Amino acid sequence: MPLVSTRQLLDEAAKGGYGVGAFNVNDMEQIQAIMEAAKETNSPVIIQASRGARAFAQDNYLYHLMLAAAELYPQIPLAMHLDHGNSFETCESAIKLGFTSVMMDGSLKPDGKTPATFEENVAVTKKVVDYAHERGISVEGEIGVLGGIEDGHGAGGSGLDHVTDPDQAVEFAELTGVDSLAIAIGTSHGAYKFTKKPDGSVLKMDLLIAIHKRLPKTHLVMHGSSSVPKDLQDIINQYGGKLKETWGVPVEEIQLGIKNGVRKVNVDTDNRLAITGAIRKVFIESPEKFDPRDYMKPARAAMQKVVAQRMVQFGQAGHAGDYTAISIADMAKGYANGTLVTKPLVGAK
Ligand code: G3H
Ligand code: 13P
Ligand code: ZN
Repeated sequence: MPLVSTRQLLDEAAKGGYGVGAFNVNDMEQIQAIMEAAKETNSPVIIQASRGARAFAQDNYLYHLMLAAAELYPQIPLAMHLDHGNSFETCESAIKLGFTSVMMDGSLKPDGKTPATFEENVAVTKKVVDYAHERGISVEGEIGVLGGIEDGHGAGGSGLDHVTDPDQAVEFAELTGVDSLAIAIGTSHGAYKFTKKPDGSVLKMDLLIAIHKRLPKTHLVMHGSSSVPKDLQDIINQYGGKLKETWGVPVEEIQLGIKNGVRKVNVDTDNRLAITGAIRKVFIESPEKFDPRDYMKPARAAMQKVVAQRMVQFGQAGHAGDYTAISIADMAKGYANGTLVTKPLVGAK
């Protein structure tokens, strides 16, 4: 299948009542791990690259690796998404390169650190939506600010510092016309999300439910959705790592989100943990080895295992064959003729 729009994947997920994992990549092995997991579980999938990933791998390498993935797995609906675009220019360059969806994270100023005003967020996101939709590319916006900081991106602090206000979410969706909306309900990026096992009251699921009721057609996105499994932490620490005790987002909370309009679930940290644990194990158990394949193969397999597990847990498993690709040109027509426009239920409370 050619690379498809994230909007198509999320529309199908909404029809089927499941979520789609969006997994971050920086290199070929991570793309391979995700595609093998998608094949194993027969799942549609979103592969996403951050600004950091684009700088690390270089755009052309990333794009051609994604084309190879689409070519090698024609049965898998696959979208290539820009994660946390910080400006119009970053989104524009991703679209010019061939990304099939972008996130304009206008919740932060272009420095990727300072919370932006509502007006600034609306203005830059709307500019990206206009540019992207004309070209058939879907757009994710963010309202509210996640906690934590990853590779210089993020406001820092707790995930509960700037949770999303439902009124603002509705106004934002109306003013911008985004296809999907990342909301802040208490999660943060990275491994250090919670200092004790979060019970059901830690994440603001009531907010999520309220937002979904009022924006039933806007796909919700949960960032910072790694579960930071104890067994993956233990492997790292057993082989010389020094992770402090930490908890992530319980999978059951994500599943509750999926029942209430979450269609895209962002996971990066869990895969980082799986890769690092597998590599540490080889280094400690077989210090004589020096062929990178000796540790990259188990690292790739460890990531595949986590991704496949999440695909089953999010419900996307088994859905790869449900639909055929809509071309990006036809998506552009859909935006132009209004078929793909997402409008909140007017006055819904
Ligand atoms: O949202 C953050 C993702 O985990 C990507 O992280 O900016 O370090 O590539 P990164
Ligand atoms: P995690 O750090 O929880 O994996 O979140 C990743 C993410 O939100 C990418 O945008
Ligand atoms: Zn994120």
